[in-house]
Amino acid sequence: MKKIAVYPGSFDPITNGHLDIIKRGLSMFDELIVLIAYNSTKSSLFTVEERVEMIQEALGGKKGVRVDSYDGLLVDYVRSAGANTILRGLRAMSEFEYEFQMALMNRRINRNVETVFLMTGYKWFYTSSTIIKEVARLGASPKGLIPEIVYRKMQEKFPQMNKGKVI
Ligand code: PNS
Repeated sequence: MKKIAVYPGSFDPITNGHLDIIKRGLSMFDELIVLIAYNSTKSSLFTVEERVEMIQEALGGKKGVRVDSYDGLLVDYVRSAGANTILRGLRAMSEFEYEFQMALMNRRINRNVETVFLMTGYKWFYTSSTIIKEVARLGASPKGLIPEIVYRKMQEKFPQMNKGKVI
């Protein structure tokens, strides 16, 4: 049987840390679905369509991975996709509680769905889409932390990035 995992997130926008998780996740699963899911606690910079497009371009046609979006319950999507695993990246300790809460809630809703965590690569341990957007908004240039396509799209949103320190 095919091992399918869903890798959900806001991906607003996708970062090199996310790409690292996707690459490593692909060595564990036959198929990975990168799912742009709805997070009611966040307001987004990019539309869902923009995010799908950026992820697709950043993946560059990589085999075994596809992109989708969904605005309902994550576990419902997981089952409808024929998967039983949620893949999440785990960064600094501060995230542990949030991730634990989500994993346990998802398991309570559907006991057949398991969450698997991959430790984020050390290079990306302290970065997140949120902090990348914040520094870009304030004029720094987060070139080394995001795929090229995301960099170009962020330059359009934050022209001030072009004059800032490249990080
Ligand atoms: O990248 P994020 O914002 O940390 O991802 C959080 C996300 C989108 C995975 C989470 O908010 C989610 O699962 N949303 C879908 C709706 C849902 O099922 N919520 C209950 C989760 S316990």
